[in-house]
Amino acid sequence: MARGSEQYTKELYRQADRRAPSKALSPLRALMPFLAPYRGMIVAAGFALVAAAAAALVLPAAVRGVIDHGFSAEDAANIGRYFLALIAVAGFMGVASATRFYLVSWIGERVVADVRTKVFSHVLSLSPSFFETVRIGEVLSRLTADTTLVQTVVGSSASVALRNLVLAMGSFVLMVVTSPKLAALCLVGVPLTVAPIILFGRRVRRLSRTSQDRVADMSAYAGEALNAVLTVQAFTHENLDREKFQRSAEGSFAAAIQRNRMRAALTAFIISFVGFGIVVVLWIGASDVLAGRMTGGELSQFILYAVFLASGMGAISETWGDVQRASGATERLMEILSTEPTVKAPDNPVPLPRPAKGAIRFDNVGFRYPSRPEHRALADVSFAIAPGEAVALVGPSGAGKSTVFHLLLRFFDPQEGRILFDGIDIASADPRDVRRNIALVAQDPVIFAGTIEENIRYGRPEASAEDVRAAAMAAAADEFIRRLPEGYESLLGERGVTLSGGQRQRLAIARAILRDAPLLLLDEATSALDAENERLVQQGLANLMSGRTTIVIAHRLATIQRLKRIVVMDQGVIIGEGSHAELVARGGLYARLASLQFDEAKALAS
Ligand SMILES: Nc1ncnc2c1ncn2[C@@H]1O[C@H](COP(=O)(O)OP(=O)(O)O)[C@@H](O)[C@H]1O
Ligand SMILES: [Mg+2]
Repeated sequence: MARGSEQYTKELYRQADRRAPSKALSPLRALMPFLAPYRGMIVAAGFALVAAAAAALVLPAAVRGVIDHGFSAEDAANIGRYFLALIAVAGFMGVASATRFYLVSWIGERVVADVRTKVFSHVLSLSPSFFETVRIGEVLSRLTADTTLVQTVVGSSASVALRNLVLAMGSFVLMVVTSPKLAALCLVGVPLTVAPIILFGRRVRRLSRTSQDRVADMSAYAGEALNAVLTVQAFTHENLDREKFQRSAEGSFAAAIQRNRMRAALTAFIISFVGFGIVVVLWIGASDVLAGRMTGGELSQFILYAVFLASGMGAISETWGDVQRASGATERLMEILSTEPTVKAPDNPVPLPRPAKGAIRFDNVGFRYPSRPEHRALADVSFAIAPGEAVALVGPSGAGKSTVFHLLLRFFDPQEGRILFDGIDIASADPRDVRRNIALVAQDPVIFAGTIEENIRYGRPEASAEDVRAAAMAAAADEFIRRLPEGYESLLGERGVTLSGGQRQRLAIARAILRDAPLLLLDEATSALDAENERLVQQGLANLMSGRTTIVIAHRLATIQRLKRIVVMDQGVIIGEGSHAELVARGGLYARLASLQFDEAKALAS
């Protein structure tokens, strides 16, 4: 395992390296479409930004005025007006800065909300094969941590950088105006500060991506462990998990520190070069003042502009790191957005008839799961089910029964053969159109956080309360629900009541009953029920099955014995078909399974 994670780390570094040559900030361009709708806000923020910077640039000139004239007696009358004007400038600067801050933060929050919504909505559309390769925790980390990075930049760093850029450029122009000679001298220093930004910047960005990947890695691990915390504790596995998490946390610490070391070096370079430059300029300037080539006010003004310029550059280099981190984050978000679902609607999907009849046909279907291409999950499977007919799928676990359902639901497309729904190849239909016609009771029913009623209504959000109750009754769930303290309003999920496996199955059945679709898929739907409840549910299911096509996967043969057609599968192929009596008479796998189960039951009964 340790070896595995080591290799994972290497893979991360390798990926980061591969991406390094791309222009540092180009991934941020992908944010443009998200910014475009707020053009007006951005222009307004730009105005506020320039206005605030312009007001700031007035101050050094004012200082020169005070130093060169302010202290002489003849100007005493003017001085009041002069300072009043400065107060107005300060007030204007305050309002403009606040406006800029508000507008820019607004844009940042807005863009991040849009990015989050888009990424989440996109992830929901992705095919199961995506979730087999990417861990849920990692997707969550991208949705939260990565988008927060983007928000920091769009909603603050970018405007800080821009404000300082305007301030720095304005300062530089005014430096030239104030003293061309000293300004030229400062120009010499610029390459000295810009070079390290470019040199270190690239590495900072690469390390940023690695560091974010490690954070994602860590939260994915925590998510896995916490989701299965009862299993972790039952196997007293806590210490091993602690160790693994710690290793993961240390990994992300190491990656972050490496990045920060780089940033620290960058900061050191810039600050010392700039400080050094200011001292040199001050020195030369002071000798110019002494020689009478410059007034004291002019030198003060020049130095103030130089300080603006320097602190502006400093701020830019600080935000540079954030911008690069956001660039890495954006890249990761765009990776998700550019992942196409492997199963998607064709350009011109063939509509299924409405209402659908529910005729099903498998024509020589062969299928391998994308994550296990060497293993044949289904081979040359052919069968047809007439509308309204009920068929059982039987076979040992791993036979491919659930896979048949996955293909019907178009979670995957088969590599060979085709599947017809009412005579239409489902590969040429919209997967959503296909799924709309299916009610599924999955092998491991999922309960969502919410009330019982909401959970049942999941199958048909517009159903009335009476419909929900009727469905619960048919699923033999009404009784246990009403015994709960808050009945149908009882909360389920993390902070709610916990249901037993059998109760969950009955909720799932009620959900499927309410969905009222022409094709019903039951995957071991009653496996967790005791005999008594199973008998109750069977009645509900029998009502439900009448008039619609049903495929039942059942482990306990007693539950499907009365169906006219039973299809027997083993290792991905159909090995027999017939009624219970026929199959038993024919011998083979089914007869063996039957004698095992029924003899056991007899033995128990006697
Ligand atoms: N998501 C998956 N990825 C890779 N292999 C899978 C996946 N789901 C099932 N399989 C494999 O496909 C075969 C058939 O599985 P399944 O249809 O679940 O069997 P059954 O429902 O009959 O027990 C098994 O060998 C199983 O390991
Ligand atoms: Mg199964």
